[in-house]
Amino acid sequence: MRVLGIETSCDETAVAIVEAPAGSAPGGLILANVVYSQQTEHRRFGGVVPEIAARAHLERIDGLVEDALTEARLGLDDLDAIAATGGPGLIGGVMVGVMAAKGLAFAREKPFLAINHLEGHALTVRLTEQVEFPYLLLLVSGGHCQLLTVRGPGDFTRLGTTIDDAVGECFDKTAKLLGLGFPGGPAVERLARDGDAQRFSLPRPMWRKAGCDFSFSGLKTAVRQTVEKLDPDDERARADLCASFQRTVGDVLADRCANALAMAPSPTLVVAGGVAANLYLRGRLEEVAARNGARLVAPPVKLCTDNGAMIAWAGIERLRLGLTDALDFKPRPRWPL
Ligand code: KG4
Ligand code: ZN
Repeated sequence: MRVLGIETSCDETAVAIVEAPAGSAPGGLILANVVYSQQTEHRRFGGVVPEIAARAHLERIDGLVEDALTEARLGLDDLDAIAATGGPGLIGGVMVGVMAAKGLAFAREKPFLAINHLEGHALTVRLTEQVEFPYLLLLVSGGHCQLLTVRGPGDFTRLGTTIDDAVGECFDKTAKLLGLGFPGGPAVERLARDGDAQRFSLPRPMWRKAGCDFSFSGLKTAVRQTVEKLDPDDERARADLCASFQRTVGDVLADRCANALAMAPSPTLVVAGGVAANLYLRGRLEEVAARNGARLVAPPVKLCTDNGAMIAWAGIERLRLGLTDALDFKPRPRWPL
């Protein structure tokens, strides 16, 4: 079966076509994967402006659907279903993607699938890796930080979540304070490579506490206070701060995952979401998984940040179970797993 997936919940307009056999096995083929990143539109504001994002999605979406079909050398009639992110996210953008998908589905009499963006991240690993349900998932993105047991599409148990900020947001804030631009995660990771991770001692909220919840607001404040004391021309100190910040995040994520593996033992720990693109953090999670008798599996870096393939793949997993949606589905700004 072939599913076209549309992702427009934040600042990436993305369309992909994924193919997989019927059944329930992991493993699919990405026939097309096009992404238009709106970073240049938002850069000068230092973050995503919802109104600008919605307008840019609207301008690009039809052209990107055409590009994806051309890349896959397919026509709309070769598709089995049309999927789009139905939430959570910036509602203007979600509406653009959902309307585009509904239009295509209605015109060609194909099933429509409204995908929870978080479920998209949660299932992506099965598109490229042989991972069977259930598995333990650390979902770390710009808006979310959660530990979950994933049993299948729509079948999740949450073990813990952040009580304040998301970890990606904390990366973005750190980058902004250091004037590294937007989005911040990749810039912080790059600068941290040359830094001394032991130089700055930053707070590790929730570290060694019971349970699997997270907190990052104290760390954000501590980074701000440290930056205020830095000489902006001291490149060495800036790199050391990035490295120390990243190590601190690594300490916290590893500690929380160790607790999760104790509470809900699993042979597989999966990390997903934009922050999963961070190779240093992957290394830390690999260590903690190995120490607790599990193996870490992550999607390819390119599929960690928002993309259409994750929505198309979640669409395939849902279509296989007959979990399609009606055309009166209403986009959801909030939609917990
Ligand atoms: O999943 P995603 O693309 O969008 C959301 O659903 O939020 O995640 C975006 C987040 C941003 O906060 C970005 O800074 C972060 O993922 N990110 C990274 C890296 N690449 C992206 N954080 C740390 N290291 C990276 N290499
Ligand atoms: Zn995302």
